[in-house]
Amino acid sequence: MEARRHRPFVLINMAITADGKIASANRAIETFSSDRDQLHLLDLRATADAVLCGAKTGNSSGVTLGVGGARFRRLRLSRGLAETHLRVLVSGQARLHEDAEVFRNPSPAVIVFVARTAPIRRVRRLRKVASGVIAMGERRVDLAAALRWLWRFRGVKRLVCEGGGELNDAMFRAGLVDEVHLTLCPKLLGGREAPTIADGMGVPALAMATRLELIRTRRAGDELFLTYRVSRRAAVRGPRRNARAS
Ligand SMILES: NC(=O)c1ccc[n+]([C@@H]2O[C@H](COP(=O)([O-])OP(=O)(O)OC[C@H]3O[C@@H](n4cnc5c(N)ncnc54)[C@H](OP(=O)(O)O)[C@@H]3O)[C@@H](O)[C@H]2O)c1
Repeated sequence: MEARRHRPFVLINMAITADGKIASANRAIETFSSDRDQLHLLDLRATADAVLCGAKTGNSSGVTLGVGGARFRRLRLSRGLAETHLRVLVSGQARLHEDAEVFRNPSPAVIVFVARTAPIRRVRRLRKVASGVIAMGERRVDLAAALRWLWRFRGVKRLVCEGGGELNDAMFRAGLVDEVHLTLCPKLLGGREAPTIADGMGVPALAMATRLELIRTRRAGDELFLTYRVSRRAAVRGPRRNARAS
């Protein structure tokens, strides 16, 4: 894991089905957790200086990455935080739509990270609706550099990443995640093409897997709220028997 110097503490928060999906294969089902989980999401946002997501999540209807109203603004202030968090999106090729709901309200401020190779026409459109569009990295956004920028220039000490699977995977592979919060929901969606919490490229060998330590569990109704710490211990190398197959 990249040493956490000059970058925010990063936690990923996702709702997953019992079969490990974060949406249906056709993306028609994108919300499946309880109202309690929605409050949990807002409560976690109210612990952070910034909330981050990928372009496809940002393009989804209903995604505003907002604070959640006066109650959560007060909660933030009582925790010694600014009244609102910063909203941050990663869109390497600037495929984030300028009419996405996240841009309909100018507050909290929205920063979009794009790659230097993003088409200038699309970048210009985003510049009209975002508070800032920052180029970081050549073909893909250099996520470590983006986090350092947020830490240095926007004072972001704690950041909640809310997916989707492609962005999460890149964050895990870059060693930029400190905690994972999962709400395990009592539904099965199935579907080979349905996204999971970490899609993208994944890792080619077990030794490179992100290792997690379960540090908290809470049951509420039929949902489980799980908190994992990303382990800093070195991965075990060499051949391992697959215990499940033996
Ligand atoms: N259940 C949950 O808690 C939950 C939470 C969030 C999202 N979701 C669901 O997840 C789905 C979206 O997930 P997804 O995996 O398809 O997409 P995603 O991760 O939200 O967005 C992917 C896009 O983000 C940009 N991106 C990600 N990593 C990048 C990097 N390292 N460098 C440059 N650009 C990067 C790219 O934008 P460009 O195309 O512009 O290059 C890429 O196409 C939606 O259906 C959403 O509803 C579920």
